[in-house]
Amino acid sequence: MQDERKPAAPGGIGAPTGAVLGALEPWPATPPDEPVIDAATAHRIGELVERYPQSRAALIPALHIVQRRCGGWLPDYAIAALADHLELDPADVYGVVTFYDLFHQKPVGRHRIRVCTNLSCQLRGSAEVMEVLHEELGVGEDEVTGDGRCSYTHFECLGSCDTAPMMMVNDTYHENLTPQRVRELVKELE
Ligand code: FES
Repeated sequence: MQDERKPAAPGGIGAPTGAVLGALEPWPATPPDEPVIDAATAHRIGELVERYPQSRAALIPALHIVQRRCGGWLPDYAIAALADHLELDPADVYGVVTFYDLFHQKPVGRHRIRVCTNLSCQLRGSAEVMEVLHEELGVGEDEVTGDGRCSYTHFECLGSCDTAPMMMVNDTYHENLTPQRVRELVKELE
């Protein structure tokens, strides 16, 4: 049975709470004229920084703010801008970005689908789930559909082994999947 009340396993403080990861068009890979840290973004980050003894402690939620602003991913110039804004070494910021799966260094779809392919899900059909996604979306793993709607990737155990196979769409778990259910879910995504 699908459990839409179960919260996303990864994330923690500052994790995006909205249903769609990249609400805006993804920003380009080269810096646009618009600043990454504009006044509104600086204000939001400033509110975060005030809660902590060091600006470094606000890095993860600040990255979520910047990633959302950049349409769901973190171009290099955005990482550099945030490092500069928080007066951190860019290498430290890259270290966090590359460690957490919730941060993306290339564009992802507005809806991000993660398919668990660990043992329980593998034994109960995760490969078929991946095949259906390929058929329905017409793109390979880690590619974005032409309309920017979706991207999908395989993932490590998401902690719902008893309801395998399962996948996560944005912040929502979908469990006991069948090929038909995967098709229905994909069609529901706008
Ligand atoms: S093996 Fe898929 S959720 Fe654990």
